[in-house]
Formats: sequence, structure tokens, C-alpha cells
Amino acid sequence: MVGAAQKLGLNKTPSGHIGERAPEPFVKWAGGKSQLLKVFSMLYPRRFKTYYEPFLGGGAVFFDLYAKCKISRAVLSDLNADLMNLWAAIRENVDELISQLEALRRKVNDRAFYYEKRKEFNSIKLRENFLDEPDIRKASLLIFLNKTCYNGLYRVNAKGEFNVPFGRYRNPQLFDEANLRAVHQALKDRDRIRLLCTDFQDAVKDAEKGDFIYFDPPYQPLGKTANFTEYTAGGFGPDEQKRLAEVFRNRDERGCLLMLSNSSKREFLEPLYKPYFEKGYVLEVKAARAISSIGSKRGPVKEFVIMNYAPNRDQNLSRFLRTEID
Ligand SMILES: C[S@@+](CC[C@H](N)C(=O)[O-])C[C@H]1O[C@@H](n2cnc3c(N)ncnc32)[C@H](O)[C@@H]1O
Repeated sequence: MVGAAQKLGLNKTPSGHIGERAPEPFVKWAGGKSQLLKVFSMLYPRRFKTYYEPFLGGGAVFFDLYAKCKISRAVLSDLNADLMNLWAAIRENVDELISQLEALRRKVNDRAFYYEKRKEFNSIKLRENFLDEPDIRKASLLIFLNKTCYNGLYRVNAKGEFNVPFGRYRNPQLFDEANLRAVHQALKDRDRIRLLCTDFQDAVKDAEKGDFIYFDPPYQPLGKTANFTEYTAGGFGPDEQKRLAEVFRNRDERGCLLMLSNSSKREFLEPLYKPYFEKGYVLEVKAARAISSIGSKRGPVKEFVIMNYAPNRDQNLSRFLRTEID
């Protein structure tokens, strides 16, 4: 039974964040890491100073660390401006966002309404300082589109316009008010939590010894049909992967604690992260996929996790490691 306090998000969480419920991702995001959190939680460094998440998406790992009371300071960023505008909107004006979502909720099954709202979304241009003054209308429309579009994808055309078709869900849950309020609580202290909209290399430029960076780059496109990774115009191909590996090595030299997940092939990753493979700091992990977005074509989630520190070989870890039979 859900009590009144819980409805308002005021229950005590296992994390010990008294008076607020543990916040969770508020958008569906391709490559979201919710299914891998169990295994990741065995791999996080025990202690760190500032947390950096430069490929933020829905922020599953940030919220996981937050619930575990591991976040004292954080720098959260993504190159996708529409997405960062939404994060900023939750921080700056969650009340207005919720009231707009309440109105949008009434028409989640209306195809014509979806295309009308998609057009409206694309017509809104963000201000230059949108992280301080987010566009709440654009933010509410992004949640609406994300929850009602085909497969919860974010894809743009060459002009940067969101172009995902209508998704036809029977009863899409647009938003969870208590969760949005909990996210607002988690983000509201601007001195501790910084939001940026920038490239990953720039995002981590100030990271120092003892800081923890989690890198979760987009999947590498595998072929013509696999262009669902276009969260931002431009894509993330082999050159970007190589640039990321350089940033990884460079932050390693600086003494940062690093964890990176990547679903590319071993043949591609091994030369880029050779020293870490050699030291046994790379694990191939798997998890059941919660939402099978392209039907039967998608098996379990399999990823390489590359660290620059020795993974804690917890006895439970072996359950999540990929074996030859998989
Ligand atoms: C695999 S997703 C991250 C998913 C996230 N970990 C989650 O749980 O939802 C990769 C993200 O990288 C962002 N991105 C793509 N290119 C980028 C770049 N050059 N710098 C920073 N972020 C980038 C995309 O917008 C996307 O949100």
C-alpha cells in the first residue's frame, strides 16, 4: 500500500536520504545503464572526490551513486542540448515543468497531437545561457516526445530536428511527479552539482587526482541500419572512440579513477586500451535486457567495462561475467 507521504516522495530511502525518495532516470535513453547497475555497483571505486559523468543521457549511474550516498560533488554533462535543457529545467523550475506535463498527459495516444508537438518542439530555439535559464516548454515537450515516440529514441536529422515517428503505446507513463521532485532535490545545490552541455573532452578537463569519471559513449554504428546512436548530429564513429581512448589515458596519468563501458568489439577496443587489458582491468559483463526495443533481435546487454584500477573481485561478480558459452 502506498501511503500519502510516499506519494509525495517523502519516504526514507535505503540510501539514507531522509525525506526524499531515491531519484531515478526520468527519460528512456538508448544505451541507458539501468540493467547493468548491479554489476557496476561491485566495480565503483570505494572512495572518490568529484564525480564526472560526461555522457550523461538519463544519468542511471549518477542516480545509483547518489542513492548510495557516494556523491559529494558532481559534474554532469552531455553534448545534447535538448537533454541538458531538460536536466536544467528540473533543477530550475520543476513546478512549471510538472504543470505543463499534466496538460500534455491528457493526449498521449493522439497521433496528430504528437506530430503537432514535435513541430512545436523543433520550433523552439534554446537561449545561449539555457542551463541557467532553461526553456521549460521545450523540456516538457522532450519528456512527452520521449515517452510517446517510437522506442523512446532521440534522433535528429541533418538540420538538428527531432524526427522520430509516433510510437503507439497503449498507456505510456509520461512522468512520475514524485521522481521529478526527487531529481530536483538531488540537483538543486548548484555549488555541489554542476550541469554542462559540452563535449566529453572539455567536460573532464578539470578532473583531478582522486576524482571519478564514468564514460559511457554512444554505441558505435555497426552499419547503415544501426544509426540509432545519433543522439546528436555528428555521430560517434571510430575517430571519436580513439579520441576518447586518448582522454582516458591522459586522465589516468593525472590520477583520476576511471570506468568506461563500451559495447564495441574486442578487436577494436584492445589496441586502444591495451595496458588495461594486460593488467586484467577489463571485464566483459552481461545483463538481461529490460526492454527489447527491436523485438527478438536483441539478446542480453553485453559490454566491456574498462577501469584503470583493479576490479574488486567480489564472489558475486562472476554471475555477471560473460563466458565462452554465452
Ligand atoms: C550511451 S548514451 C549514455 C547513456 C547513459 N549512461 C544512461 O544511463 O542513460 C551516450 C550519450 O553520449 C552523448 N554524446 C554523444 N556524443 C558526445 C560527445 N562528443 N560528448 C559528450 N556527450 C556525447 C549522447 O547525447 C548520449 O546521451
